[in-house]
Amino acid sequence: MWLLLNSAGLSPLSASRSLAPLWKEPPKGQKDNNFFFLKKQETREKKIKLWGDWRAMALRLAFRVEPFLCFYPPKSRRNGHVSRSPTVSMASTIGSSSSTAKVGSQKKSFSPPKEVHVQVTHSMPPQKIEIFQSLEDWAENNILVHLKPVEKCWQPQDFLPDMSSEGYEVQLNELRERAKELPDDYFVCLVGDMITEEALPTYQTMLNTLDGVRDETGASPTSWAIWTRAWTAEENRHGDLLNRYLYLSGRVDMRQIEKTIQYLIGSGMDPRTENNPYLGFIYTSFQERATFISHGNTARHAKEKGDLKLAQICGIIASDEKRHETAYTKIVEKLFEIDPDGTVLAFADMMRKKISMPAHLMYDGRDDNLFEHFSSVAQRLGVYTARDYADILEFLVDRWKVGELTGLSGEGKKAQDYVCTLVPRIRRLEERAAGRAKLKPKVPFSWVFDREVGGEGSREG
Ligand SMILES: [Fe+2]
Ligand SMILES: [Fe+2]
Repeated sequence: MWLLLNSAGLSPLSASRSLAPLWKEPPKGQKDNNFFFLKKQETREKKIKLWGDWRAMALRLAFRVEPFLCFYPPKSRRNGHVSRSPTVSMASTIGSSSSTAKVGSQKKSFSPPKEVHVQVTHSMPPQKIEIFQSLEDWAENNILVHLKPVEKCWQPQDFLPDMSSEGYEVQLNELRERAKELPDDYFVCLVGDMITEEALPTYQTMLNTLDGVRDETGASPTSWAIWTRAWTAEENRHGDLLNRYLYLSGRVDMRQIEKTIQYLIGSGMDPRTENNPYLGFIYTSFQERATFISHGNTARHAKEKGDLKLAQICGIIASDEKRHETAYTKIVEKLFEIDPDGTVLAFADMMRKKISMPAHLMYDGRDDNLFEHFSSVAQRLGVYTARDYADILEFLVDRWKVGELTGLSGEGKKAQDYVCTLVPRIRRLEERAAGRAKLKPKVPFSWVFDREVGGEGSREG
């Protein structure tokens, strides 16, 4: 059994909330006993809060000793045994055991397939919520403009056979004939990308964990909430389109894929953004660019294999991701302008923790290291690689002009140095990662009917 809470199994915030007494006005002339009770409670709450803050700080310090990029072996668990196998993990965040919480060993149906980090919550000082409230109008004029009106948006049906038309069989056969030309390792990458898109409920949840920008009601009129809902609605088309394409292609085991999606949504994700919109928007900036690159590469491969229709499908999704990347990087750019110190510290914090891929907890009911195996195939095929990770970081450092920041505190300067010198250090690991991916043995993927994919001798895409 995995314990997914913090080490005490109790969130300081939830503890203080449960202690909050109901205030009652005392009858006239009567001593206000509630006052003393409240004072006592307040002190207790403060102690709990202080303890929580101290522990969060201690944990954050503990995280900083981790290596910055996870090219070391990820851990997997089977029957309580921690096993390590060398692999290239482009995204796994699971680092040293010092930053993970686990209890027992039995895997539960609705728990992530592997351990997650100790969950740190609400790390942004509450007063900074005002920054996001003050940016409401700015977000309306600068961020919502990157959404496309529904009537101007493409829909999955625009790229798929029209099953209501007389000639649907011809269109369907053409799609299936083209799909026959693509190798299994390409399909593994496409399925992994599709499963990642299909876990969209998790990403909307993640955005709504962020203090100061969450959709408080489900129909909140704030610019931040409007963005999150409309972003989700745009993203929803990505999974729909890829899912329908893959179903119609006849090349993949849809039942296994559907199970993987159900497991993944049930497991959630562990982005370590701590309800903190600084961390959250740095994470989404990175991720939108990562998905832009990944879909762009599957488009390129499809084109090289002569499937122009599939290239168009992947390309149109990539163009959405680019638009989203523009919006999220603009938000972080604004944060750098308003609060350079806080933002550079957040950037360094996210990079020290490493940016996890959203689907890093994927599981198909069989393969305990499914994400690592998928990552290896993606690395080998060049769909998403260690080099891309470094390229994205380099892009963001330039985009936000991190090297040019001035007037930083001592801590801010250290964070600036760390981020600005990170790219060459990651690059040095690139070659090793690529080399290891080449040496990986073939692995059966349930998504393609247990055919073996990857490793030496597998078909190149
Ligand atoms: Fe997407
Ligand atoms: Fe996106």
